[in-house]
Amino acid sequence: MHLGVFEVAAPQVGGTLSWSHPFSASVHHREVDHWIGVARLLEDAGFDFLFFADGYGYPTVDGDLPPAAARGGLNFSGLDPMLLVPVLAHATSRIGLVVTASTGVDHPVAMARRFGTLDHLTGGRIGWNIVTGASQDAVAALFGHREMTPHDVRYEIAREHVELCMKLWEGCWEDGALVEDTAAGVYADPGRLHRVEHAGTHFRSSGYFTVPPSPQRTPVLFQAGTSAAGREFAASTAECVFLQGTTPGHAAANVADLRGRAAAHGRDPRSLKVLVGATVTVAATGELARERRAEFERMQTDEVASVIYAGNTGIDLLALPQDVPLAEALARTGDPRVGQMGQSNIDRFRRPDGSTPLVREVLAELRGRGTRGFTVVGDPLEVADQLEDLVETTGVDGFLLEAIFSPGDHELFCELVVPELRRRGRLPREEDRPTGSGTLRERLGATSPRLAADHPGAGLAAGLVATR
Ligand SMILES: Cc1cc2nc3c(=O)[nH]c(=O)nc-3n(C[C@H](O)[C@H](O)[C@H](O)COP(=O)(O)O)c2cc1C
Repeated sequence: MHLGVFEVAAPQVGGTLSWSHPFSASVHHREVDHWIGVARLLEDAGFDFLFFADGYGYPTVDGDLPPAAARGGLNFSGLDPMLLVPVLAHATSRIGLVVTASTGVDHPVAMARRFGTLDHLTGGRIGWNIVTGASQDAVAALFGHREMTPHDVRYEIAREHVELCMKLWEGCWEDGALVEDTAAGVYADPGRLHRVEHAGTHFRSSGYFTVPPSPQRTPVLFQAGTSAAGREFAASTAECVFLQGTTPGHAAANVADLRGRAAAHGRDPRSLKVLVGATVTVAATGELARERRAEFERMQTDEVASVIYAGNTGIDLLALPQDVPLAEALARTGDPRVGQMGQSNIDRFRRPDGSTPLVREVLAELRGRGTRGFTVVGDPLEVADQLEDLVETTGVDGFLLEAIFSPGDHELFCELVVPELRRRGRLPREEDRPTGSGTLRERLGATSPRLAADHPGAGLAAGLVATR
């Protein structure tokens, strides 16, 4: 079972409200020591990686920041987690560090340079969670774009963005091009440097990548976003997918679909790791765990749920008729933005027959749930049972834990659940783990620090693109 922790360098994770509870310390998210503590805790417990969500946007209702988002710190305000990575890498030695970055704003050359640098500074422990970006209306306005780029075009841009990044990481420096011979005074072999040429629909680039080859070259490619376009992109390009599962059936169908699509792209479907979000509340007894979960639930309101949902979908649920099925209420608005901001959070409510619950039922479901995946509550044995059960019934490879009270929930999980999972053989002991040269890619099961031979990026390796 692979384990990561989902965090955000902001007061609030997961589209719910809990930062102001005494058991939460996430108000300290602007302090480096807070994050060093979290990273070391997780590393010592054997977690594979610490994952940061991120984005430039924030929720909007009628084109502006709703006061409730500012008052509640709801997906509003936060730091750039990429800048935390070198500090965390320095304070740890094994844990992977995964950062979310959107393909919709920066040029791929800038993105590739940052991740190439981070792969060096982390010793090959960096991952990139590729997203097309939440809160697109706010992002488009902030960056002065004339209009929001349509949903599927954002995925076309993402595909080309990552393709150019991979050309830079894989295609410019041939193995051996970095010489660093101090005696001979030769730094790089010009005969082994290849000019990268890219003239695409959305990006153009011609020249050399200035960051020398790093341990993984391409960071481990994560992806989140499970619309049809999102799954297709993940199946062709991602190595690890962050899935938000609402029911075991929904998650199992997504896992099967992703693996089927990966196989259709000529990739080994098992090499695509799928991790599902889980909010675990554990305590020494089930009763204590349920009491803590109830405290959290008492903090949640319809307003919190609707603000967060608006940030992800552009839909203000409180402004819709409450006793109408969601799909019908959305169709009645005639709002062209519906579905354009993001589909995962609409599709998650679609039943197998295509029907959707009433708007007020959707709100009730979102209250305390936000954009989180599975809810798991109980004593250590109950929690371990439920996690094992989810792995067996859905085919996922592990979990991204989404704490409600951070880092208290992480501490309890590490103390109470990790030893039980280890006892059951679900987590290897650190000394038994085949980590190769210690890169994140190998930690996640690859046999090499580099992209697998069946990954499209491997075909871009130096020598296969235009040479100098
Ligand atoms: C599980 C999950 C996690 C996401 N994390 C982020 C994030 O950290 N930052 C961000 O800008 N967007 C995030 N997104 C939104 C995606 O960027 C994407 O824009 C959105 O989901 C639309 O794509 P879709 O229709 O395929 O879902 C996330 C989406 C999902 C489903």
